[in-house]
Amino acid sequence: MSIKPLIILPDPILRQVSKPVERVDSDLRKLADDMLETMYDAPGIGLAAIQIGEPRRLLVIDLAKEGEEPAPHVFINPEILESSDQRSVYEEGCLSIPDYYAEVERPAAVRVKYLDRDGKLQEMQAEGLMATCLQHEIDHLNGVLFIDHISKLKRDMVVRKFKKLAKDKAPGKMVG
Ligand code: NI
Repeated sequence: MSIKPLIILPDPILRQVSKPVERVDSDLRKLADDMLETMYDAPGIGLAAIQIGEPRRLLVIDLAKEGEEPAPHVFINPEILESSDQRSVYEEGCLSIPDYYAEVERPAAVRVKYLDRDGKLQEMQAEGLMATCLQHEIDHLNGVLFIDHISKLKRDMVVRKFKKLAKDKAPGKMVG
């Protein structure tokens, strides 16, 4: 297992639409393990493959709190089958948009089908934080970021800030 570098806003890779996984094999399981290790290291509670530059429909989630046993979930080719009319608001953040948080409103519950790490078809009825996290990560697979769900004014501000940060870090810049 290895920790991979995270793709950070405004890298256009984050806007790619990820391709379905065709085979659940040992390579894919290795990628899932690397994603989990990268997520635990960050630390975060969810990570989509595109966030380490792999445009495949794969995401990992672990909602265990500090001190609890790890509870890793691997979702391959996840699809939302149903969303509740009831909505809920969570303060969201993203490993690709470090140190920025904003309240996002989404359906409070979703039913999701996916393949597990053995390639077995599964369904999950998710609510609470799991529902929010699944929707946030599935958005990543479609090139959508949580800042797309906030006001344009706030979004433009965040994007500007990260563009400036990226520019300041760009190679070739003379720093005396
Ligand atoms: Ni994210």
